[in-house]
Amino acid sequence: MEIIIQPDHVQASEIAARIVARTVREKPHAVLGLATGNTPLQLYRNLVRMHREDGLDFAGVTSFNLDEYVGIPPAHPSSFHSYMWAQLFSGLNIPKDHINIPDGMTADVPAACRKYEQAIRSAGGIDIQVLGIGTNGHIGFNEPSSSLSSRTRIKTLTEQTRADAAAAFGGEEAVPNHVITMGLGTIMDSRMCLLLAFGKKKARAIAQAVEGPVTAMVPGSILQMHPRTILVVDREAAAELRMADYYLWVNTHKPDWQKY
Ligand code: GLP
Repeated sequence: MEIIIQPDHVQASEIAARIVARTVREKPHAVLGLATGNTPLQLYRNLVRMHREDGLDFAGVTSFNLDEYVGIPPAHPSSFHSYMWAQLFSGLNIPKDHINIPDGMTADVPAACRKYEQAIRSAGGIDIQVLGIGTNGHIGFNEPSSSLSSRTRIKTLTEQTRADAAAAFGGEEAVPNHVITMGLGTIMDSRMCLLLAFGKKKARAIAQAVEGPVTAMVPGSILQMHPRTILVVDREAAAELRMADYYLWVNTHKPDWQKY
């Protein structure tokens, strides 16, 4: 895993944006895997800025979101659909029919999940998957105990995750119990993963995912098995990494061609 520690989330999100932008420039028909939450907000602002100011072109790009709440209509203000349009899609030129987000209102969840997997395959697979991490180590909505080879399916949220999502829903009682999420196997099929984490409340999950054993109890730890994962963290999220000094040293001694 490549570990990039930055002083703060602003500088970390600049690097993350350069990594995504490079994928889009190198492959105009790139397939992006996208995440929600607070973590990628600055990355998305940067991509919108690069589109407006530098002409970064998303016309050929296809996107797949990681997850969506079950029973929440797309137009609901707390849906991941609403989040994605407000934070990213409204500012880019990705054609609407290239945007894919799991349908939380589907009447047939297993069929919708199979179709989602098929759509990812038909698009040629995900080139770069943006990820945040939950305080309990989940990626997407793959809660602890998720199969390390799981595919898109329904999951039940843990109490911890529902508490973390309470603010977005105006209270924990309003947070849905169920979600549709890409599986860990789906995420692992991506050609590259870009994991972001900011703030001290992510420090434990990051240390466990990066330096702990690979275990279904810390779903993000499966990324240790991925051939190309880049982790970009701020100092606070890196606080419990035992080898932080080494990761910083690696970065300051990179050959020019490896710099972002
Ligand atoms: C949710 C999302 C994840 C996200 C996580 C962390 O669980 N399904 O994709 O990584 O929240 O959210 P935040 O970035 O707000 O801390």
